[in-house]
Amino acid sequence: MKSQKVVFPALLCAILLVVSGCGKDSDSPTPDPGNDDVTVDNVTYANFAGGLFQSSCSGCHTGTGQGTGKWVFSGYSSVTSNLALINDAVIVRRIMPQGSSLSSRQLELLKAWIDKGAPQN
Ligand code: HEC
Repeated sequence: MKSQKVVFPALLCAILLVVSGCGKDSDSPTPDPGNDDVTVDNVTYANFAGGLFQSSCSGCHTGTGQGTGKWVFSGYSSVTSNLALINDAVIVRRIMPQGSSLSSRQLELLKAWIDKGAPQN
């Protein structure tokens, strides 16, 4: 039964991590997987924007999603070829993602990415 002594604190740690992550308000850095080091200077599609479209948009903008009438998300080129529309909907008019909103950090990074010319890597 030695192993339980190790597993239990590890579990506690994991639970604490999850709870503290969820408790943050929308102005603190959003804990998107692997994105804590992303800044307005180094933001790319690979390190941030792609993951954001995947997590915040693909639910409605892929497959038979309700948003596919206007834009179908299928990776980098589906974003860059609709960049003006996306910029308008997300950054300017803030009507997307429909029914929720991006954190101020997500908006800031997305805007910086678009302003830099939407780099892929
Ligand atoms: C809960 C569902 C949902 C989510 C999440 C969502 N959308 Fe949409 N989106 C829609 C619907 C519905 C429409 C309208 C489609 C239509 O009129 O045919 C739309 C329309 C759009 C349009 C066209 C706007 C226009 O002016 O015509 C763009 C661009 C867009 N969405 C981008 C995004 C982006 C980028 C995200 C993620 C940040 C996102 N959407 C998240 C449902 C969603």
